[in-house]
Amino acid sequence: TTHQTIYWPPERENEGVREAAALLAAGGVVAFPTETVYGLGGDARNEAAVERIFAAKGRPSDNPLIVHAASAEEAEALAAEIGPAERRLMDAFWPGPLTLVLPARPGVVSARVTAGLDTVAVRVPGHELARRLIAAAGCPIAAPSANRSGRPSPTRAGHVLEDLNGRIDGVLDGGPTGVGVESTVVRIVDGAAHVLRPGGVTAEQLEAALGGEAHVASPAPDAGDAAAADAGAPRSPGVKYSHYAPKGVMVVVAGGDAARVRAAAQEAADAQRSRGLRVGVLACDENAPAYRADAVLRLGPRAEPERAAQALYAALRECDELGVGFIVAEGYPERGIGAALMNRMRKAAGGRIHYV
Ligand code: TXA
Ligand code: MG
Repeated sequence: TTHQTIYWPPERENEGVREAAALLAAGGVVAFPTETVYGLGGDARNEAAVERIFAAKGRPSDNPLIVHAASAEEAEALAAEIGPAERRLMDAFWPGPLTLVLPARPGVVSARVTAGLDTVAVRVPGHELARRLIAAAGCPIAAPSANRSGRPSPTRAGHVLEDLNGRIDGVLDGGPTGVGVESTVVRIVDGAAHVLRPGGVTAEQLEAALGGEAHVASPAPDAGDAAAADAGAPRSPGVKYSHYAPKGVMVVVAGGDAARVRAAAQEAADAQRSRGLRVGVLACDENAPAYRADAVLRLGPRAEPERAAQALYAALRECDELGVGFIVAEGYPERGIGAALMNRMRKAAGGRIHYV
């Protein structure tokens, strides 16, 4: 059903937090900034509110939601128990872009949040506005990314309105988000950390925090659900859905140095342009000026994959707006935040990666 979506601009932040919190406490659904992407929040204990989140997004109901808490203490209240490895990660990365999958304390959040699983995904966001809002609402907040299902996650309030205007109660504008890709989802099994979704906290950071006590196991980048299941690894229901899809067909060119990537990307662009397609290129600042294409979107300096992670989703949305039918994106080395960045590029490209 269509109704008015309230927009609170950054300069009316205090009023926005107060009104948005009141709406959340009353069972409303409100979008808010986190350090990763904008989330669409609702009271995690309120089944009707959680159903409204799924309905607004058009999200399959078997894909569980992350529950956001204002503090580690409040997050702990959602879990049946917390082991030593989980404790270490909470201490090291909260507030911040880490989601822990924990055994759920029965009867706390709605079964719709966990999609009937006996685990609950929990995080304390590293964005002050998000924590103030959750604290003021006085309840755990279930919040998936605030996009229509299948669209790139929103990194600005304007992206939220593009997708959800008239479908949600409000959006709190906190400006562009910092990390730009979603949180890292981790589950500890027998003391080992399994990365269910790479994100803002890197595997290297997880390893450093866990020391010698646990290793970080990550399914191979292209491993489907079946492969993960065969390996006995825990799975995240979300991985089976194709996400972050732009309207155009996308290909990623990766593996070589900047010059070789540029040559191969230009070749791919030329081939599609000669077939009459409108072509967009996602390029590092150094390569951008040299491309011949219908649109060239900059992802920041080649040596700063953090900037590319920040810019990726907005660039994909811009390609859609420009009517781009074919997207060529320069890939990045899969180290540090580059692993999450390439994971999202790979998904947007439907697995089409060309290594040079
Ligand atoms: O950065 C983020 O995590 C953002 C902001 C808003 O916090 N949220 C986000 O939510 O990305 P969403 O719903 O788009 O992604 C949640 C992911 C999905 O892949 C889902 O399958 C997984 O977390 N997940 C949720 N609960 C789970 C559980 N109990 N076990 C395994 N995976 C779970
Ligand atoms: Mg999402």
